[in-house]
Amino acid sequence: MAEPQWAGNMPEDVDTDDCMTSYTHIYSPDLLKHGCDTVIASRNLERLTEAAKKLTAATGRHCLPLATDVRQPQTISAAVDETLKELGRIDILINNAAGNFLCPASSLSFNAFKTVLEIDTMGTFNTSKVVYEKWFKDHGGAIVNISATLGYRGQALQVHAGSAKAANDAMTKHLAVEWGPSGVRVNALAPGPISGTEGFRRLGGNTAQAMGAFSSIPLQRAGNKTEMAHGVLFLASRASSYVTGHIMVADGGSWLTSANDVSKLLGIASNQSAKL
Ligand code: COA
Repeated sequence: MAEPQWAGNMPEDVDTDDCMTSYTHIYSPDLLKHGCDTVIASRNLERLTEAAKKLTAATGRHCLPLATDVRQPQTISAAVDETLKELGRIDILINNAAGNFLCPASSLSFNAFKTVLEIDTMGTFNTSKVVYEKWFKDHGGAIVNISATLGYRGQALQVHAGSAKAANDAMTKHLAVEWGPSGVRVNALAPGPISGTEGFRRLGGNTAQAMGAFSSIPLQRAGNKTEMAHGVLFLASRASSYVTGHIMVADGGSWLTSANDVSKLLGIASNQSAKL
């Protein structure tokens, strides 16, 4: 299919895990005052260290890699202590830890369902609570949870992730209400299919694209990572200073129109399981 004529409006991106070599600001370059130092946290310190080196080289800012398992509050607590020791403050928390795969509910083990809930839902609560107690309660801050549209219409093969993210959407509102008086805003971004991501690879994005499935998306294409970064930056920054408890869908209109075709999706799932 020919590229839509407005494709040129897409911000630049790379399809790999590397940083972009150039970037055109769409917000004021000093939106976060003078840029920001970052902490990236996950289970695999080796991968984190490599990513931190790339981010430091690309931005000239400090990027601290910290090994953390969001299912274990004591590891989050240690990471937040280390962050405050190294950087002195925390302004923004992005809850992005998630596990997912395509699997019919009837084949999903009890432990598989529990694991995804523990990472996505418990992990978001654990991290938010630790950061709130140790810093946001007294200084305010912004939390952005990365959500999904899967639960809006009962997406096939996604009962685990859809249930987890639906709980996170509720949590976003609950915490926005309770923590608003402390100057904490809590919002969420719900992406559609985003090229060049682990989720895209795991959830059949390449197969769907090859089959022409994205022509049913109102904007006729997958999104890119920079578009998601722009959404998160909006929610995390003073650009959205009076927005809280909001779930912002950034999916090109995908969930409104894309097919929820169980037999086709089962075909993608069996293709995938051979590769996992
Ligand atoms: N299909 C069905 N079940 C699966 C699965 C798949 N593709 N992958 C894992 N599981 C099940 C396991 O079989 C296990 O259940 P069991 O004990 O009954 O056999 C359960 O999930 C836990 O898996 P395990 O590998 O022990 O847990 P983990 O914590 O190491 O892995 C996952 C977490 C499962 C979410 C893993 O896929 C992961 O870490 N993925 C990387 C992050 C990611 O998915 N990012 C993209 C998000 S869109």
